Amino acid sequence: MTAIVPDNLNPLEPGATLGVLGGGQLGRMFSQAASKMGYKVCVLDPAENSPAAEVSAYHVEAEFDDELALSNLAQVCDAVTTEFENVPADSLRFLEDKIPVYPPSHSVEIAQNRNKEKSFFKDHNLPVNSCAAITDASQLELAFKTMSGKAVLKTARFGYDGKGQQVCENITELQTAFESFGNVECVLEDFVPFDCEVSVVLARDVHGNIEAFPVVENQHKNGILDLCIVPARVPEEVQKQAVLVAKSLAEAMNYIGVLAVEMFVCDGAVSLNEIAPRPHNSGHFTMDACNYSQFDQQVRTLAGLPVARIIQYQPAIMYNILGDLILKNGFEWQALQQLDNSHVHIYGKAEARIGRKMAHANLLGNEVDSLLASIEAVITN
Ligand SMILES: Nc1ncnc2c1ncn2[C@@H]1O[C@H](COP(=O)(O)OP(=O)(O)O)[C@@H](O)[C@H]1O
Ligand SMILES: [Mg+2]
Repeated sequence: MTAIVPDNLNPLEPGATLGVLGGGQLGRMFSQAASKMGYKVCVLDPAENSPAAEVSAYHVEAEFDDELALSNLAQVCDAVTTEFENVPADSLRFLEDKIPVYPPSHSVEIAQNRNKEKSFFKDHNLPVNSCAAITDASQLELAFKTMSGKAVLKTARFGYDGKGQQVCENITELQTAFESFGNVECVLEDFVPFDCEVSVVLARDVHGNIEAFPVVENQHKNGILDLCIVPARVPEEVQKQAVLVAKSLAEAMNYIGVLAVEMFVCDGAVSLNEIAPRPHNSGHFTMDACNYSQFDQQVRTLAGLPVARIIQYQPAIMYNILGDLILKNGFEWQALQQLDNSHVHIYGKAEARIGRKMAHANLLGNEVDSLLASIEAVITN
């Protein structure tokens, strides 16, 4: 695979304009990091108002496949990134002909489809659990027979926060699930009885230098990330494995930008779950616990600056604040804001809804157990 790098490797000067496809909270935090470094940001998003557009210099209000809008974006911007993986790969390729686009379309295209992702892992001898592509209901039985008796059917595309997936224990459940997804392309994964889940967020620059953030331990509730603990409470050997797998993957993809790699830990070994070609919810702790955040690294890699070496100042937990909490009787932001060493990042979304990510809180301190206890006290009150 050839490296996709600009002809001119000089970093963009402050004052340059960076584009971001998508206007959600990840775009917002990218924009905040960019403006700190003197860059202007142009958001492309179809919504009139969005968390990212609210804090950015420019907003192109259009669909992600609108060629005229993409041309305008390419004209306004010196480089473009994406904040979510479902941007059409054709739109990224269209932009790539005109300006640097990181991560490159080929990486985003793989991350958009769970089967492409899994094939990529297998082709590069990266650890992955038993799985099979399903394009027709007739393939379910044979695939299920090769697994442990419990499996997860996931739509190949557009799944997030546990949506578009179903745990199944027999063929009837599988057929019902496949039909309920509209008979679209799926992947069937063996159910992994993991000890814990971890992720590695890393950045790779145009020169191929890689810097990983510390390994994160992730706890999910109802398929949505609930809590992160960093450093992950797994043996050093497991942390090393996780970083090695993530770095090998980034190199194999010739990746440029910030990459998040989700993994399962089972009996002291890691295996890949999925990747995100962008900053990740599990990397939000970096905003307060590290010398550079994942968004700083996203800006740096996009602007052609070298990746920064990372130091984590203090152990941290990150708690996701969903609409569920905000809609609860008696919820008060102050309860979170008043905790010792807590940093609450609010995304500016107009309406709280069940399951909607509204904000997150980073808590820093040397005693992870007491950080967990103080969050617990606020959310159960
Ligand atoms: N094969 C599996 N075995 C066990 N648990 C799984 C499996 N796949 C997913 N999960 C659980 O569901 C969560 C969400 O699945 P994931 O594939 O990461 O999709 P999403 O795009 O929604 O994050 C995972 O973090 C994990 O907790
Ligand atoms: Mg996931």
